[in-house]
Amino acid sequence: MPTPLRICQVAAEVTPFAKTGGLGDVVAGLSRQLGREGHDVRIFLPFYGHLARQAEGYVPVSSLQRIPLWMGPRYFEISVLTCKLPDSEVDAYFLVCPELYAAEGIYQGDALDGLRFAALVRATFECCQRMQWAPQILHAHDWHTALAPLYLKTHYSWDRLFDRTRSVLTIHNQGYQGLVARESLEGLGLAGHAFWLDGSDLQAGLVNFLKTGMLHADMITAVSRTYAAEIQSAEQGFGLDWLLRARSPRVQGIINGVDYGTWDPVADPHIPHPYSARDLTGKREMKRALLQGAGLEDTDAPVVGIVSRLVGQKGFDLCFEALPALFARRDVRLIVLGSGESRYEDFFQWLQWRFAGRAWFYRGYNNQLSHWIEAGADLFLMPSRYEPCGLNQLYSLRYGTPPIVRRTGGLADTVHPWNPETRTGTGFVFEHFTTEGLVWALDQALDAYADPAGWRQLQQNGMAEDYSWEVQTAEYVELYRRLTG
Ligand code: ADP
Ligand code: GLC
Repeated sequence: MPTPLRICQVAAEVTPFAKTGGLGDVVAGLSRQLGREGHDVRIFLPFYGHLARQAEGYVPVSSLQRIPLWMGPRYFEISVLTCKLPDSEVDAYFLVCPELYAAEGIYQGDALDGLRFAALVRATFECCQRMQWAPQILHAHDWHTALAPLYLKTHYSWDRLFDRTRSVLTIHNQGYQGLVARESLEGLGLAGHAFWLDGSDLQAGLVNFLKTGMLHADMITAVSRTYAAEIQSAEQGFGLDWLLRARSPRVQGIINGVDYGTWDPVADPHIPHPYSARDLTGKREMKRALLQGAGLEDTDAPVVGIVSRLVGQKGFDLCFEALPALFARRDVRLIVLGSGESRYEDFFQWLQWRFAGRAWFYRGYNNQLSHWIEAGADLFLMPSRYEPCGLNQLYSLRYGTPPIVRRTGGLADTVHPWNPETRTGTGFVFEHFTTEGLVWALDQALDAYADPAGWRQLQQNGMAEDYSWEVQTAEYVELYRRLTG
């Protein structure tokens, strides 16, 4: 029996406490599975304003109260609450500091976001010290916590507690790098450590959180194999490809897992009509319920679902032409859940008006509805411009809702094109980011839908895929063990 590892996760999002996208699902799912395998996992995140409003269930940690934290010239006091990550024995630690975290929402998008997340990382170290807990792995996620490897080498290098701590930085999205003005260095406590940062950035008056993490992490992972390769290319590297290429022996792609405890139609607590690959009756019931909820008439015509942040990355620009053309030619329904940039929101709003009775748009964030769409739709659309991994296509495979995706990042790794001749494959994949590409894939999908026996096989193929954390966690554990020797 290999010895359990001590793993510290530090992240801006952890589902169900704080989530805007897949990041939260991944930090929670990975930690839960690591906990089940007997590892000592502790998660650190801010006690955001929305958590403070429903504060029951959190317990103060007596040894972690009023911890002094100097961020350059600014002084903060951090106190810590804890509770278990649901469905696990993993301890989540919430950093209470109203001055930093009381505002509504996870990201403020202002100049202080850098300080807020840097303070999260610093406070995590301070807590480990007070708990006399020596993590072997310090696992940071995305730009928000990417300063962790640097703080380990600077502020905490004197402490023998961290002598054997190795850092891992997971890139969930290279498009967001956390750029702050050079003047912030002092507030980040890094004024005396500028030589550890990228010189050309400093010259340009900037500090780049993600780049700094990439420079100093012992290991860098990206959330799929294809994405790990893509971000090392000039086209998709967002200016950091050269650095990843230079560190390529330390870069690894690991595909995200799915928490099938939450995302499986057999036992999904959010849907009233459970179903399985063997008996899909409940799926038809869910389609009826979804259409009814959306105020659309029940029909056998195919329903295409979308659940997404509505941002450029997700590729909905292609829908501007493709979807009106599709409605003109084919009998199809569309159900969209999402929010984000107004050009996409306005478009889907317009579509609902223009194709009344056939298209429906719910603007906002709604966890229950996201489960209903996975279950009740016939097809799931993700035309992403780029997609580090993507979770919704993995969910939709399990829900018998074949995904239509563009061949990029994790979508390329996880959706296999349907071949009606050999009856193999799990979804519909188009190559080029063009309206024609999307229209082609939509037509393929709707044609396949017209053949019930083939369709059933396609659904079964997808439902049989296993992207559970039980499977995916093994790669992280192997990496952790390699790092800790
Ligand atoms: P990303 O992290 O880039 O947004 P992913 O596919 O990895 O993309 O994860 C998205 C997650 O966020 C999924 O769990 C999805 O169900 C959820 N999600 C996105 N938008 C919404 C929304 N409007 N309402 C509810 N859940 C949403
Ligand atoms: C990011 C990516 C998404 C990925 C998620 C979790 O938000 O956009 O593709 O699935 O992180 O890793």
